[in-house]
Amino acid sequence: MIVDRYNRVHDYLRISLTDRCNLRCFYCMPEESYDFTPMKHLMSATELEIIAGHFVRLGVNKIRLTGGEPMVRSDFGDIILRLAKLPVSLHITTNAILLDRYFDVLRKARIGTLNISLDTLSAEKFKRLTRRDKFDLTMRNIHMALQQGFQVKINMVVMRDFNEDEILDFVAWTKEESLDVRFIEFMPFEGNKWTSNQVFSLKEIVSLVESKHKIQVIEGSLHDTAKHYKISGHKGRFSVISTMSAPFCEGCNRLRLTADGKMKNCLFSKNESDLLSALRDGLPLEPLILQNISTKAEKLGGQFSVDFSKLKQESLKNRSMISIGG
Ligand code: 5AD
Ligand code: SF4
Repeated sequence: MIVDRYNRVHDYLRISLTDRCNLRCFYCMPEESYDFTPMKHLMSATELEIIAGHFVRLGVNKIRLTGGEPMVRSDFGDIILRLAKLPVSLHITTNAILLDRYFDVLRKARIGTLNISLDTLSAEKFKRLTRRDKFDLTMRNIHMALQQGFQVKINMVVMRDFNEDEILDFVAWTKEESLDVRFIEFMPFEGNKWTSNQVFSLKEIVSLVESKHKIQVIEGSLHDTAKHYKISGHKGRFSVISTMSAPFCEGCNRLRLTADGKMKNCLFSKNESDLLSALRDGLPLEPLILQNISTKAEKLGGQFSVDFSKLKQESLKNRSMISIGG
């Protein structure tokens, strides 16, 4: 088992398939030109299968594929069908742009949840945020996924003075559709121009929704990253991921693998273990995995304390979100 110094058992692996993306969300990608990782430095489908297999033998039972945008890899279908053979529940995070091409594959792979990133319900704002004109396509694919019975979660990164005025519109969407809308507090990463005053916090989100609806807290479990809420009469629910104002590190069971095969034990961890190079050199991976987890910090990669309001993005040492994997 993969256990850290705080006795947290790690059974959930998030694998980034690529740092490429068909969108350019400003909160995710550095504005200055970003060099995508050359193919030869990425894990191939076979290497992915082998590395994931090592984690599964060490107790991982849940895998989520992320990016960049995982579906931009031309071998995405092959990868997902290979990983589907492992004894894990398989999930995916996507921006939905290529989703309609893969419904059959996703069904065949018995995919669990589809987490879809969507930060605005306005086509104009979508274009400003993502620097691409793909709003209608994205919405069409989300509706198709719902029609086809996939379990959909919508990830909305809330940024003050950008989209907090749409929170109630997203909540209204959960009345007729059984989706989970997850409001995510804006997080700092390399090059994303984060400032603490742009964080629209858990408290602010909940009191905004409460100004319009009577809400009920849904009891969570240890590993939840989100706090869940129900509104009576709504088919869906909403949740808040409060990484900044109320982190949930005590129950953390998550490990990450970047597209270039480096293990990270936290979204904010500085140190990485190069599993892909080890595999290519014929070295055993297990000692590296266990060594890496033994350095896991108690909270937030040991990089910042609970009060985010004094934090400066420049003082953090990390990759950009697109090169970590969401
Ligand atoms: N803060 C919060 N969430 C982010 N994501 C990407 N960048 C950030 C950020 N700076 C989220 C996206 C997506 C997932 C992959 O990560 O919304 O849903
Ligand atoms: Fe692409 Fe998601 Fe990053 Fe936007 S947030 S650029 S969709 S990986």
